[in-house]
Amino acid sequence: MEQLITFELTPKMRLDIDAWVNKFPPEKKSSAVIAALTIVQNQENWLSLAMMNAVADYLHMPQSAVYEVATFYSMYNLEPTGQYRIDVCTNVSCMLCGCDTIVAHLKERLNIGFGETTKDGRFTLKEVECLAACGGAPALQVDGQYHEHLTPEKVDAILARLEAKA
Ligand code: FES
Repeated sequence: MEQLITFELTPKMRLDIDAWVNKFPPEKKSSAVIAALTIVQNQENWLSLAMMNAVADYLHMPQSAVYEVATFYSMYNLEPTGQYRIDVCTNVSCMLCGCDTIVAHLKERLNIGFGETTKDGRFTLKEVECLAACGGAPALQVDGQYHEHLTPEKVDAILARLEAKA
């Protein structure tokens, strides 16, 4: 994680966070932490310590409580990522349905391992726990979309579509 630096929530972030805070009773302000972290992450596509601390201050929460949330959920990036983060599930159902083949194919196609980003900064590959798409195993998530019943050919089509988008 990067060194601590100052970060200030923008007025727009505050407005967006307030919209979530207002959904909860006044004494449950911290219930908006998941939404607040998502809003802040959307700026740079990752969360620095300073960003998490700004959320803690704003929601009057201990910093450690915010770190607990940010480190528990795989949707948060705690370091800079590529333009597209490919989340590949390797949990039980996906493992039984051949995710090893998909993972090997992705690693070979992108020439990176889990937790790494391609040299062009386009793709980051991440191993995640169950995506709750077990019925469609093996599955991955990228660019806000789920892709299920994966085959190497489907993976190639997904990558081609993302490469064409940039
Ligand atoms: S085990 Fe992969 S989506 Fe559930």
